[in-house]
Amino acid sequence: MCGIVGYVGYNQATGIIIEGLKKLEYRGYDSSGVAVLSNGKIDVRKRKGVIKNLEELIKGDVPVGTCGIGHTRWATHGTPSDLNSHPHTDEDLTVAVVHNGIVENYVELRDDLIKNRGVQFKTETDTEVIANLVALNYAENGSDLEQAVRSAISIMRGAYAIGVIAKDTPDKLVAYRKDAPLIAGKGDGENFIASDIPALLQHTQDMYMIENNEMVVCTADGIKIFDSNGAEVDREITEITWSLEDAEKGGYEHFMLKEIYDQPAAVRETLSQRLDVNGKVKLDGITLTKEELDSYNKIYIVACGTAYHAGLVGKYAIEKMARIPVEIDVASEFRYREPIIDDKTLFIAISQSGETLDTLKSLRLAKSKGARVLSIVNVVGSSVARDSHDVLYTWAGPEIAVASTKAYTTQLICMYLIALYFADLKGEIDSEYYNHIIEELQAIPDKIEKVLECTSTIESLADKFYDRERVFFIGRGLDSDVSYEGSLKLKEISYINSFAIGAGELKHGTIALMEEDTLVIALATQDFLFEKMYSNIVEVNARGAHVVSLTKVGREEISQESSEAIYVPKCADEISPLLSIVPLQLFAYYVARKRGEDIDKPRNLAKSVTVE
Ligand code: AGP
Repeated sequence: MCGIVGYVGYNQATGIIIEGLKKLEYRGYDSSGVAVLSNGKIDVRKRKGVIKNLEELIKGDVPVGTCGIGHTRWATHGTPSDLNSHPHTDEDLTVAVVHNGIVENYVELRDDLIKNRGVQFKTETDTEVIANLVALNYAENGSDLEQAVRSAISIMRGAYAIGVIAKDTPDKLVAYRKDAPLIAGKGDGENFIASDIPALLQHTQDMYMIENNEMVVCTADGIKIFDSNGAEVDREITEITWSLEDAEKGGYEHFMLKEIYDQPAAVRETLSQRLDVNGKVKLDGITLTKEELDSYNKIYIVACGTAYHAGLVGKYAIEKMARIPVEIDVASEFRYREPIIDDKTLFIAISQSGETLDTLKSLRLAKSKGARVLSIVNVVGSSVARDSHDVLYTWAGPEIAVASTKAYTTQLICMYLIALYFADLKGEIDSEYYNHIIEELQAIPDKIEKVLECTSTIESLADKFYDRERVFFIGRGLDSDVSYEGSLKLKEISYINSFAIGAGELKHGTIALMEEDTLVIALATQDFLFEKMYSNIVEVNARGAHVVSLTKVGREEISQESSEAIYVPKCADEISPLLSIVPLQLFAYYVARKRGEDIDKPRNLAKSVTVE
């Protein structure tokens, strides 16, 4: 998830573009750059890191010109570096391209351009392929930029919102949208394109919402929109009334709520490209052979906080599907318990930021003892990613709120993909069950959207219980793993003393804490454990607890033993954490909001814990 901005008009483009990019930095901050049409040439400036670095780079020598494009990057293909930064161009700087999205068939396109057109590539990015495709068509079609972009698009697969300028087409900016966000902003004698509204709000509130497979052609005099067949489209202007700050959150009150609602797209993104044409799991360049996998006699999963909770579900999935024993540990403990590690150990690290020191140090310890390190990370090019032998990225996009939400669900997706991949490699899974789980995973984004439709129900529950100072989360099997995450969410943003425990463990002591009206959130999504869980609910009810149950549609009998019940869509038990966590994230959010807490920046916490 990157941010693109484009401008054509009578003002100097560079400043306007950079200010717009700053408003999109929540979409990615691995590198940034601008390209401006300047005296018949394309002046490209780009730099790794936050936009401030780019501003440093151009200080005293700002590119001059009134037509340009810019980009702030969230790296997916190619680690963050000056070279991999956008805009990308062809060798002769005929055209420049900024791109948000992923070109899925870029490898075969690149190989073809190298073999048959003698193109030399400088970067690891998929976007450089677009620049060269457009440039070759542009040269062959007499500098018709729209046509050159259309020809390039016709052979590309994937998701992309692009902005393109060409040195022989002054004062024109062409953009195209396919499965990635793009808007156009209408000014007076100047016009804009961008990935999102915040980038343009200080210049105009008159926006054109660009539909899928549409091209936008901007000049200083106007904006034209064309459909996929090249026919001009008559589009209504949408007047935006948001404040700038609101806009960065996409109209949501807090980044946490925005990121909870990002989950269907984040899960879709993280699943995309991880299934080959035969519906088999492929793990982006992770090449574990059966022999290698068989050579490991131990798998460790090590992480912290929410990532550790995702690991709990991963342990269950790998053991259930691939029948390989897995040990899981919190990183801060792992390092100091002299773990037994050698070259027969597969070490799996999980980290959203990729910079959590405990996890990083544990990883390095394991590596130093000969273990193979596979990590699940959200931030491309982060330390954990760089120090691992293999990395499977969650494609959740930037997670700004301290309380992790979409990183958790996308980490779960990666855990399920790894479990299926290992199970298939070891021949431990029959194709019927394998395909069943894959179908179930692919249905999850729509089911999360269904859960999000019930937000108001969760909000009223929060209104009812926001003043509780003690809450218990109970569950069995995967539900107890999710209970830990639900409890952590509530603790870290509402500061309520929340406690999670396996429901079967209650009677061994903790049930002593149950008294009249104690709030208990009971998860019962595991069909094979439903009866057991039902009797645990009866147990706490007998102590006067106030039970709010969470189960799947079709289990309405639970309401007989619950004061309130939350229902999520039916799904396979193995993957129910992907649904059952969402109401718990929302509950924590609305309770914290009702208590007036600083939800995105809770006290005493940091988004990435880079100290021990
Ligand atoms: C979760 O909401 C917290 N922000 C925290 O527990 C976090 O999960 C933990 O610090 C691990 O962070 P990481 O995934 O970036 O390594």
